[in-house]
Amino acid sequence: MVNKSNIQEAELALEAGAVEFEPETPDVYGDAHPKDLLRKIPEEHDVLKELSNKHIATAAQFEKQTLLQLFRLSAKYESNPDRFSTPLKGKIMISAFYEPSTRTRLSFESAWHRLGGDIMSITDRSTTGIAKGESLYDIGEMFNNYGDCVVLRDNDENSVVEMMESLRIPIINAGNGTDEHPTQALADVYTILKWRPEIMMGDSQGIKICIVGVPSKMRTIRSLLTLLSRFADAIAEVVIIHDGQTEELFSPGQKEKLEEDGLKIHTKTMLSDCLHEMDVIYINTISWVDDDIETIGEGFKLNASSPLKKGAIILHPLARGDELDTSLDETPHNWYFAQARGAVFIRMALLTCITRRTDRVMDVL
Ligand code: CP
Repeated sequence: MVNKSNIQEAELALEAGAVEFEPETPDVYGDAHPKDLLRKIPEEHDVLKELSNKHIATAAQFEKQTLLQLFRLSAKYESNPDRFSTPLKGKIMISAFYEPSTRTRLSFESAWHRLGGDIMSITDRSTTGIAKGESLYDIGEMFNNYGDCVVLRDNDENSVVEMMESLRIPIINAGNGTDEHPTQALADVYTILKWRPEIMMGDSQGIKICIVGVPSKMRTIRSLLTLLSRFADAIAEVVIIHDGQTEELFSPGQKEKLEEDGLKIHTKTMLSDCLHEMDVIYINTISWVDDDIETIGEGFKLNASSPLKKGAIILHPLARGDELDTSLDETPHNWYFAQARGAVFIRMALLTCITRRTDRVMDVL
């Protein structure tokens, strides 16, 4: 992944004493997109109140109105990141990651720090009572005494529900096995709306979304499809690209529910059949199964020479593998880094809501 010629160039420049850091801020990272989104969504204060003290277990619990208000608050944070530094002062987040993570853990922790809260962090299950056979139910009972909310990642899909049973503080599901990753999906749809805010209104033509992956086995895709169904009016079709090797592409009832909610879903095994006409391409090849990574669909690859539609954007939950070539990083199709960056702001918004601190950041009270 590392571009050796860039490293050599940097080393040569260092030797010559000529290193100057020039912050390039392509439009995609700037504040124009969040400001535009902010202007287009009128504030409805009471909608976010509904998230007060709520557990966030699944994407299915979000209605369109709640999503729009969450995106509005995220855009407000992203448009003016220095304005709000203390809404979570006095609150403690317990960040419990029993499965590896770069983005989710650090963006949650960054979000919490940026809002002035304090954190306790677990990054290794072997350092906790789990190593002695303690149940998540009992650990949840203890967490009630130590913090104001929990962010949990675990490879067992029952983990969140098990801990919820003893918790009296809200928990956020940060990825539970192959089941769900609701806050990743929030970040994904937030990115799509910043790219094209019209889809909130139900754009007349509708956008075409291509998803390379397996909805029954990939938690990011399961949660994303659910959130996309809230904007079904604005989506002409969702094409799922798969390698034909997975026995059940969808979990029982999953496709039927999405179609009932208005999504028009097609499946294909050839990416080249449709790539040229897709507006959004979401690609992922990793599924966490039990204690290990399963790689699915490695044959599908995107690079700067792929026949992408002009203006099309690529999303990826990351970490990437060979499916997403670094040659795309410098192209306008790269919205995947902005997607990861935007996750900080959507998590700031969600954390503000569940800890009952929205009054401190609303315009209209
Ligand atoms: N997108 C995502 O969940 O990344 P991490 O595994 O690094 O948290």
